[in-house]
Parts: sequence; C-alpha cells; structure tokens
Amino acid sequence: MTRQSVHYWNSISGNYDTLYEDAWSRAEDSELSRLLTDLLRRMHARNDNKSGIRVLDLACGTGLVAEMLSEIAAIRQYHGVDISPKMLELCDLRCRKLGIPYKLTEANLDIYSISEAPYDLIICANSGASFMRDPISLLDNISQYLSNDGAYLFQLLNRCSLRRLIHVRFGKFETYSTRGSTYSSHDTARLVTKRELKSTGIANTRNTIIGDGPMTGVFQWTKAFRVNRLIGRLTTCLSHSIILMGDVHE
Ligand SMILES: C[S@@+](CC[C@H](N)C(=O)[O-])C[C@H]1O[C@@H](n2cnc3c(N)ncnc32)[C@H](O)[C@@H]1O
Repeated sequence: MTRQSVHYWNSISGNYDTLYEDAWSRAEDSELSRLLTDLLRRMHARNDNKSGIRVLDLACGTGLVAEMLSEIAAIRQYHGVDISPKMLELCDLRCRKLGIPYKLTEANLDIYSISEAPYDLIICANSGASFMRDPISLLDNISQYLSNDGAYLFQLLNRCSLRRLIHVRFGKFETYSTRGSTYSSHDTARLVTKRELKSTGIANTRNTIIGDGPMTGVFQWTKAFRVNRLIGRLTTCLSHSIILMGDVHE
C-alpha cells in the first residue's frame, strides 16, 4: 500500500499545484484561510505569541498550507511531514522562497511519531488526513502535542459524500484521484463519518465539525460556491469532506 501511495504522490507532484489553480479551488483556499485566521485569532486572544507560531503540517505536500499561513501569521517554525520525496522537494523550494524557518521530514504518517512537540498549530489539510491509516487515534491524542493555547485542523473525506453515493449508484468503483485528475488513481483513502469524528475522545479541547458542501467534486460551479459552503455549514451530510478543528481548552 505504501509503495503504491508513494508512487501515486510522486507522479502527481509536478502537476499538483496546477490542479489547485481553478476558481473553485481558489475559493476553497480563501475559505480555509478564513478558518485558520479565526483559529489563530482565538489563540492570540489568549496568548499573543509575539515570537510567531510553531506549525506541524502533516501530509504537507508541496507546501500550499505553508504559503497560506505565511500570509496570515508570523511563523517561528514550519515543520512539514510527507511520504513523497518529490512533494517534499517542491515544498522545500516553496519554503525557501517564502523565507520562513522550516524543517521537512520524509515519513510515513502510519508509523511516524510526533517527537518535537509542542506545536501551536497542527494541520492536515486538503483531505491529507484521509491518507493515514488511523487519523482517529492521532486526533484522540492531539492535545498532548499542542501548546497550552494550541489549535488543530484536520480535513477528511466523507464516507457518505454525494460524489461517493453517485459513484456507488452507477456501479463505479470508488477510487481517489486528486481533483478528479486523469493521472493514475489512489485506491486507498480513509473515509470517515461525522458520527465517527464526534466520538473521538479529543481530550481537553473544544472543537467544531463542518462540511465543505455536497457539490464539491460533483458540480463545481463557482457561482454556487457560497450556497455549497452554507449547506456544508448547516449539515456535513453529503459533504465531500469533513473538517474537524478546535483548540486546547483546559
Ligand atoms: C491531497 S495531498 C494534500 C497535501 C497538502 N496537505 C495540501 O494541502 O495541499 C495528500 C498528501 O499526503 C501525502 N501522503 C499520503 N499518504 C501519506 C502517508 N502515509 N504518510 C505521509 N504522507 C502521506 C501525499 O504525499 C500528499 O502530499
């Protein structure tokens, strides 16, 4: 499984950023940036973190999150972890260009143990958490890796998404391919339900669960983005992915 996974992500790395350049993806980026800004604002209200934040970006890919964060926060250290050496090469270039203090680790998150905690923010965006075998156990213990005012945001693919239901209805074997690209597909993604995420025993944190909306991956008409987002806020049901975010709250 891991070899297939590394091969898939290596092969897509060179085109990865372009797959996220369409109008829909840009709207999703703004939304993610807004969620992160809110999380960080809450963190700064409790502790003004003058020296900047330490970030752990799990399944960091080419570092899109590093770039987004550098626009909304002072970064003391960005630590990206990913299984794909090709993704990490691109992340390295991006971090160097951004001029942020950074460290990159090539590792399989299925066996990686977080050893340089505490972090102020732990993030696993753009469905990155669905490529770990057991994101739930990590979430159960997330507060032990966070600073006192730390925050986290994980995005996982929804088992009951509209896209998946349509695929199943038409007898299509559900495989994952980044942004529906025509490159080879990835046949193992960890799908979750809202109920499963709700029952994670995330100790000492307060969290929120939202969906990104049912139209994502099905009918990405940019004019309908806000409606899609609103549906995702009101109910995670049928959303393409589920975002679980929160902060340490003793
Ligand atoms: C959909 S991309 C998300 C990348 C990034 N988080 C972003 O926001 O653009 C998924 C990433 O997960 C990485 N990945 C997949 N399986 C992994 C594993 N077992 N351990 C570490 N990284 C993994 C891939 O190499 C890829 O970069």
